[in-house]
Amino acid sequence: MLKEVNIDWQNLGFAYMKTDFRYISTWKDGKWDEGNLVEDNMLRISEASTALHYGQQCFEGLKAYKTKDGKIQLFRADENAKRMNRSCRRLLMPEVPVEKFIDAVKQVVKANEAYVPPYGTGATLYIRPFVIGVGDNVGVKPAPEYLFCIFCLPVGPYFKGGMTPVNFMIADYDRAAPYGTGGEKVGGNYASSLMPHEIAAKKGYADCVYLDPATHTKIEEVGSANFFGITKDNKFVTPISPSILPSITKYSLLHVAKEYLGLETEERDVFVENLDEFKEAGACGTAAVITPIGGIEYKDKLHVFYSETEVGPITKKLYDTLYGIQIGDVKAPEGWIFEV
Ligand code: PLP
Ligand code: COI
Repeated sequence: MLKEVNIDWQNLGFAYMKTDFRYISTWKDGKWDEGNLVEDNMLRISEASTALHYGQQCFEGLKAYKTKDGKIQLFRADENAKRMNRSCRRLLMPEVPVEKFIDAVKQVVKANEAYVPPYGTGATLYIRPFVIGVGDNVGVKPAPEYLFCIFCLPVGPYFKGGMTPVNFMIADYDRAAPYGTGGEKVGGNYASSLMPHEIAAKKGYADCVYLDPATHTKIEEVGSANFFGITKDNKFVTPISPSILPSITKYSLLHVAKEYLGLETEERDVFVENLDEFKEAGACGTAAVITPIGGIEYKDKLHVFYSETEVGPITKKLYDTLYGIQIGDVKAPEGWIFEV
């Protein structure tokens, strides 16, 4: 019998909730242990852990979905495992074998099955794997030990309103350096985004748009999501740069746009001076799914794409197809779905 949980699935935002079990595995003496599920959501680590002082940590974000026939499935979990390992390599942390990552994610989801939102509610189970450097160490060097942990929680839309357009402003700060860690999912990128986010929020924007750190002429990221635009001649365009986090949602949308909607697609520079080339625009990511961009403030002017209140037709089709694949209503490309 599934445990009863008293959750208002329709009105969930993106906020922490303690669920029953989390996974933890330790790397010591050159190898990962088996790992196990625990109930305690507190970590006890050395005060000298590199994760606390030198940002030696990375994380991932993926989701579990309930299908119409009650199954639970993960979307492209192998890609999250591979990206986490790229982050680990960049920060000299031990990689987690892809099979271990997927098995651990499945364990956590199964153990917290009661928290997987029902089909049709629009809510999903957000899964947060992370690797942190721990142990006694004070010099700037890699940690002697590491933890690989995963917790999960039910979530609703990341940006308020979900498929309602929201506005963004161009940031006065960078989130990443040209040869830095923007392309990896490491905590430092997010620490440096807190202040620009707060400035944007205070001005009434959902978040900010980051430009390329070398020339500040090209769009890179939309808060913690990637950018896409639909040109006036119906091309799906998304920026390319080593300091953009390679979004699994974005690469999935490139495929969906081409193979399911028959659109031409382009990964190329998107100049902020040329926002006029797009008739629709959106932010995409695991948490954001697809959030339509109403407008972007640039040089004190709000550039509106399709509408500040309504989602454009192509953005809507992209969303319906992608979300349809994720919840099992639309046939997925080979290898995208992992049954729990
Ligand atoms: N860009 C940033 C900075 C992110 O933090 C995320 C979230 O993971 C994304 C983009 C979207 O990536 P994905 O679609 O893999 O979740
Ligand atoms: C995601 O889209 O999964 C993210 O990680 C965004 C944010 C919560 C950091």
